Amino acid sequence: MRLWGGRFGDGPDSRMADFTRSIEVDAELALDDIAGSIAHVRGLARAGLLTAEESETLERGLAGLREDVAGGAVAWDPALEDVHMNLETLLTERVGAVGGKLHTGRSRNDQVVTDLRLWTRRAVTMLDSGMVDLERSLVDLADREGDAVLPGATHIQPAQPVLFAHHLLAYVEMLERDRGRLADARRRLNVSPLGAGALAGAGYPLDREATAAELGFDGVTANSLDAVSDRDFVVEVLAAVSLAMVHLSRLGEEVTWWSNPRFGFVRVADAFSTGSSMMPNKKNPDPAELVRGRTAGVIGALAGMLTLVKGLPLAYQRDLQEDKPAFFAAIRTLDASLSVMSGLVATLTVNRERMRTAAEEGYTTATALADALVRRGVPFRAAHHIVGGLVGGAEAEGIGSLAALPDEAFRAALDGSDDAAARRLAHERGIVPALRSAASVEGSLASADVVGGTAPHRVAAALAAAKARLGLE
Ligand code: ARG
Repeated sequence: MRLWGGRFGDGPDSRMADFTRSIEVDAELALDDIAGSIAHVRGLARAGLLTAEESETLERGLAGLREDVAGGAVAWDPALEDVHMNLETLLTERVGAVGGKLHTGRSRNDQVVTDLRLWTRRAVTMLDSGMVDLERSLVDLADREGDAVLPGATHIQPAQPVLFAHHLLAYVEMLERDRGRLADARRRLNVSPLGAGALAGAGYPLDREATAAELGFDGVTANSLDAVSDRDFVVEVLAAVSLAMVHLSRLGEEVTWWSNPRFGFVRVADAFSTGSSMMPNKKNPDPAELVRGRTAGVIGALAGMLTLVKGLPLAYQRDLQEDKPAFFAAIRTLDASLSVMSGLVATLTVNRERMRTAAEEGYTTATALADALVRRGVPFRAAHHIVGGLVGGAEAEGIGSLAALPDEAFRAALDGSDDAAARRLAHERGIVPALRSAASVEGSLASADVVGGTAPHRVAAALAAAKARLGLE
């Protein structure tokens, strides 16, 4: 007979029992369920609903269960439906009839969402430390390869040179926002639903605040109907988790390109690569690809959760049991992805020469050259036109970079301009070496000298700030 079986004549059909059971999934909540029960027992004692002896017995029983669950010594009984029924039954087997008092003033509806909030709180802490680890790997690599230059791209076409460290620190920024989103979600999720009962509020004078404090919650939910049906925190965390996966997916995408021999910018360590069953030559960055691939499932979990709640009337509906499988899986996926990407990044080898050569291809210093003309009084639009002409000419002559153009090319371009300031410049002493230096990779990097720009001293400052934040050095 089920714990809820009093009014039933027949036992459950096995198809119904199999269909509604959740123990395979919610066993994950066992330790949180026990923590919630211990706090509840203390609350019942404070309210005079248990004698000191009864509450001690229950608490001792629950502490024993906690040990056995943590040690993997508990076998779940599928006939008992879910983790709550399993634990209550196990407790009663151990402590006797007083076990029947545990569920006083509590429903599985406020119980399960208490468990899930506790579980999510732990998950958020775990993910935060995974994010910090990955940030550290990125910052270490940025530090190690501080002056490597990457061909910055837009439209996947050569654009402007950037420091590799600057590129890596962009991902540190993303991860910092991810941490912020999790911390923000945690503030709202960290309230106790215990005492909401099934939906209307417990029928006993429970001190909900005291029980909440016992569980490390910052407060209590304000409305019992909302308390048992609210899964906003799952949606919020899944949204933050999805976005973090999107960031890792983008990083994974870049690593797959960078490690392609055509690029040859980085080598993924053997330990983070896989081979082919047929092609002996193959070395593939599979972890990066799988991070990208598994992002799909995590985004699916977010869409699924929103869809799950969108049509639910108040208060608890059994649909809500479906909040867990994809949520748990998404958290595990992000945690594992952070960890594998951290290892992959930490063991990347950088080929600075290949990067540097590529950074010069495609006349990437053209903007810096135009800016140099502007600094000498040429309107930007005229400067853009002059440098565009130089690029066109270099391309036609098969000259690979602006800095390699002959002196006459610079002078002729200035002299042929519609702009009077440009024409004056054509005859200025020392103008060509000055422009050639502006058109070098170093000149281009140095000119992006604003907060958040890729000028080396700006990147060094950003790196130092990131290190200080992460407690490195
Ligand atoms: N296994 C259920 C869940 O995860 C627990 C709550 C069930 N409550 C109920 N009244 N059937 O949502």
